[in-house]
Amino acid sequence: MSPLTLSLNSLVATLAILASTTSLITTNNPSIFLNYLTKLIVTTSSSTTLVEPKSYHRHNHHRRHPDKGKVVSVCDDFPFDIPPPDTNTTSYLCVDRNGCCNFTTVQAAVDVVANLSMKRTIIWINSGIYYEKVMVPRTKQNITFQGQGYTTTAIAWNDTANSAGGTFYSGSVQVFANNFVAKNISFMNVAPIPSPGDVGAQAVAIRISGDQSAFLGCGFFGAQDTLHDDKGRHYFKDCYIQGSIDFIFGNARSFYENCQLISMAKPVEKGINGALTAQGRASNDENSGFAFVNCIVGGNGRVWLGRAWRPFSRVVFAYTSMTDIIAPEGWNDFNDPARDQSIFYGEYNCTGAGANMTMRASYVQRLNDTQASPFLNMSFIDGDQWLFNAM
Ligand SMILES: *[C@@H]1O[C@H](CO)[C@@H](O)[C@H](O)[C@H]1NC(C)=O
Ligand SMILES: *[C@@H]1O[C@H](CO)[C@@H](O)[C@H](O)[C@H]1NC(C)=O
Ligand SMILES: *[C@@H]1O[C@H](CO)[C@@H](O)[C@H](O)[C@H]1NC(C)=O
Ligand SMILES: *[C@@H]1O[C@H](CO)[C@@H](O)[C@H](O)[C@H]1NC(C)=O
Ligand SMILES: *[C@@H]1O[C@H](CO)[C@@H](O)[C@H](O)[C@H]1NC(C)=O
Ligand SMILES: *[C@@H]1O[C@H](CO)[C@@H](O)[C@H](O)[C@H]1NC(C)=O
Ligand SMILES: *[C@@H]1O[C@H](CO)[C@@H](O)[C@H](O)[C@H]1NC(C)=O
Ligand SMILES: *[C@@H]1O[C@H](CO)[C@@H](O)[C@H](O)[C@H]1NC(C)=O
Ligand SMILES: *[C@@H]1O[C@H](CO)[C@@H](O)[C@H](O)[C@H]1NC(C)=O
Ligand SMILES: *[C@@H]1O[C@H](CO)[C@@H](O)[C@H](O)[C@H]1NC(C)=O
Repeated sequence: MSPLTLSLNSLVATLAILASTTSLITTNNPSIFLNYLTKLIVTTSSSTTLVEPKSYHRHNHHRRHPDKGKVVSVCDDFPFDIPPPDTNTTSYLCVDRNGCCNFTTVQAAVDVVANLSMKRTIIWINSGIYYEKVMVPRTKQNITFQGQGYTTTAIAWNDTANSAGGTFYSGSVQVFANNFVAKNISFMNVAPIPSPGDVGAQAVAIRISGDQSAFLGCGFFGAQDTLHDDKGRHYFKDCYIQGSIDFIFGNARSFYENCQLISMAKPVEKGINGALTAQGRASNDENSGFAFVNCIVGGNGRVWLGRAWRPFSRVVFAYTSMTDIIAPEGWNDFNDPARDQSIFYGEYNCTGAGANMTMRASYVQRLNDTQASPFLNMSFIDGDQWLFNAM
């Protein structure tokens, strides 16, 4: 592994560790790290000559020791069994930014996946930051992105609503295909963090528009509008999600389990400066909503659990611990009292200073066992029909 790769890895690791440590996030400004990261990536991506990619014949060479004055290949540590041979049910592709296997960009691997394949294609992605905008089109179903850990493997880009022609197109990664899975990898938007009043600075890390999608051990890094949970049924487990305003938004039906939701809203005197969610259910006929179970809510700023992007917005928090960053009223109806009749905002068995419901807005529901049960397990997203494909 080259010193360059090492420094990138440790930087992402530092970033993620800093961000995940509530006590540190209140004393540090995460924007400094994101800006630094952006500069570093841009510097290094234009100087690829630093690393000499080796041919695929690496495994035929014996490892040469630096003491003997011989060249040590950046690929010497590359695992010999990657990618594994294809099977009847699974194809494998391999991405390494140093050129130690077939592809150096994630998009190049996605491009060769057969259209409408019924097999699963596992794209194995080595540690490092892949500075590219990635699109998984509708026809490339059944793809898995397998990273090496959400603090060491990341896909990052820096589009904003302004630069991309709308928030919906700003995603560093955009997935339109069904049955997409990601494991142990981060999705980042490293555009500058908007200042109050900035227009068009929304910057999505990933847009998920396909049905039956799962994210295991993944990171989502951004500020305003980090995770566009657009449509379809989605599962998130053991994920780290960071943002400021409306940072989990969209009209999907999603089950979030064991996830950390970390606000990086800048504290403003007495003001509210963000919301964890902006769920976009528009009518009673839509079966969408976000359920958070066994999650952790922390970070800094003063935020709502959700605000009613559309009139039938539906969000439930259960068995979740919340620090005092949650405003006492808890939720916001988008300043439209007519929505109080149609939104569904429920809390069940949550803990921590932020979960105190004494001052909650009138429309917020303290769910009883019966009301909570549809939101407490994978049946909320019909998991028994499809989740086995993702595991
Ligand atoms: C894979 O497919 C081939 C050809 O159809 C078949 O001969 C073989 O038994 C299959 N292997 C497995 C493990 O199912
Ligand atoms: C990947 O590399 C191997 C070994 O060089 C080669 O056999 C295979 O066809 C390549 N696969 C793709 C999809 O390019
Ligand atoms: C997939 O389909 C698209 C559009 O129909 C075509 O341009 C592309 O070459 C196909 N890709 C593969 C790998 O077959
Ligand atoms: C592949 O995708 C199709 C259509 O989305 C789905 O029916 C099938 O179960 C998927 N297969 C796997 C192995 O995930
Ligand atoms: C993304 O970063 C590049 C390199 O620093 C910069 O030229 C570009 O303007 C940035 N884009 C946005 C939307 O900030
Ligand atoms: C993620 O990485 C950890 C640590 O290497 C490993 O224990 C875990 O099984 C991985 N999970 C997935 C879903 O790849
Ligand atoms: C809360 O959780 C406990 C333990 O799982 C359970 O006994 C209780 O019925 C739950 N309900 C409410 C409304 O707190
Ligand atoms: C909840 O908030 C109310 C009003 O602010 C306060 O009186 C009460 O002590 C709090 N309860 C707990 C358990 O902290
Ligand atoms: C839960 O609340 C619903 C709606 O208010 C009510 O009809 C039901 O009887 C309650 N169930 C329990 C077990 O308290
Ligand atoms: C999941 O929740 C549903 C709806 O409340 C319930 O019928 C089912 O028994 C639960 N399944 C598991 C595995 O707990």
